[in-house]
Amino acid sequence: MNIDSTIISGYQSLQDIGYLLSGKHQVLLVSDKNIIGLPPVQSVITQLKTAGCQVTVIDNVPPEPSQHDVSAILSALKQPRVDLVIGVGGGSVLDVAKLLSLLCAGDENVTLKSLLAGEKPQHRTTSLLIPTTAGTGSEATPNAILAIPEKETKVGIITPVMLPDYVALVPELTTSMPARIAASTGIDALCHLFECFTSVIANPVSDNVALAGMKKLFANIDTAVAEPGNLVARLNMLWASYYGGASIAHAGTHLVHAMSYPLGGKYHIPHGVANAILLAPCMAFVRPSAVSKFACAYDLIPDADLKLSEEGKSYALVEYFDALVHRLDLPVKLSQLNITPDDIPYLSQGAIEVQRLIKNVPMPVDKNQIEEIYRSIR
Ligand SMILES: NC(=O)c1ccc[n+]([C@@H]2O[C@H](COP(=O)([O-])OP(=O)(O)OC[C@H]3O[C@@H](n4cnc5c(N)ncnc54)[C@H](O)[C@@H]3O)[C@@H](O)[C@H]2O)c1
Ligand SMILES: [Zn+2]
Repeated sequence: MNIDSTIISGYQSLQDIGYLLSGKHQVLLVSDKNIIGLPPVQSVITQLKTAGCQVTVIDNVPPEPSQHDVSAILSALKQPRVDLVIGVGGGSVLDVAKLLSLLCAGDENVTLKSLLAGEKPQHRTTSLLIPTTAGTGSEATPNAILAIPEKETKVGIITPVMLPDYVALVPELTTSMPARIAASTGIDALCHLFECFTSVIANPVSDNVALAGMKKLFANIDTAVAEPGNLVARLNMLWASYYGGASIAHAGTHLVHAMSYPLGGKYHIPHGVANAILLAPCMAFVRPSAVSKFACAYDLIPDADLKLSEEGKSYALVEYFDALVHRLDLPVKLSQLNITPDDIPYLSQGAIEVQRLIKNVPMPVDKNQIEEIYRSIR
């Protein structure tokens, strides 16, 4: 199994990807309606056709896809076995492309049902993932997240086999992202980096990856959101997001992500927006258990006050998170999302059930404490 992706990065780096295509006849290009018309995507399709590939285009992956969306896409495929899957889009598209790289590899025993039941296939088709948000870092994680409407939650299908052969980080593909999506997906990347950095299963590899990513993110997130055409800031955010995904691959997120799952699963709040509301309050809760790591991350902020004590820096980081979410004009209260205090017991039960992530929180946490955090942002 190859889990080391080759990364192509930079302006116009998709202009000549012909060398990836040799021997590929059936290609599945997975995208969505906001992305498919972008010139670099059309250029990829032209190159595929010029190389003689049969290209099937899926351009209807919805945001926050469910298991039923993937089933519908599979049933509509005339050619269920392919040689290359290309995913170009946000995390929603990339997660679907990753699943299709398993489901279109020619093994009839591998089905969406078997993957949801925990099967870990050994093979997938060749894959190229091209993120257009920055982001989920899905191109660097072993995860694909699906909504399960019947259970009003989301689940992760997790296997390193889904890590792609090729990743392309192409800044001009992200310039059409509306500011609100650039802001919320940027906060998602920050959550991946900082949760993995403070997770109980952090290790030296995930720590260094997270530090490199946070340095890029703190220096670029404001500019990237304010100046969509700034390709340098946009490329740096793509790298920060990639590092966030790589941190997940080596460690794992915890409280913010556990508490955001029920907001996505039942109330359909976009993933990055749900994380943005939770970032500062969850980190205020976690702070006492990881003071030196909080201080270490704070030191990476461009105008950090390096004279503060470790304790002082740890508080200052939580304040920075809170100010950043306000500055990016993202929601900070559940009421802004039409979620009422009556919903909080349900949300808390949903969060505590995400034991896969709760067990990574660097201190004990129970349902009452989770409920208190939700109440603090009602
Ligand atoms: N696999 C993982 O490791 C992982 C990690 C975190 C989140 N996720 C999942 O990823 C999904 C969220 O992905 P996301 O936050 O990237 O958002 P998204 O993919 O759902 O996209 C949000 C919206 O932005 C639009 N968009 C994306 N890029 C654009 C661009 N360049 N220009 C114009 N519009 C653009 C999309 O069309 C969509 O309407 C959720 O399902 C979440 O659970 C997966
Ligand atoms: Zn996330």
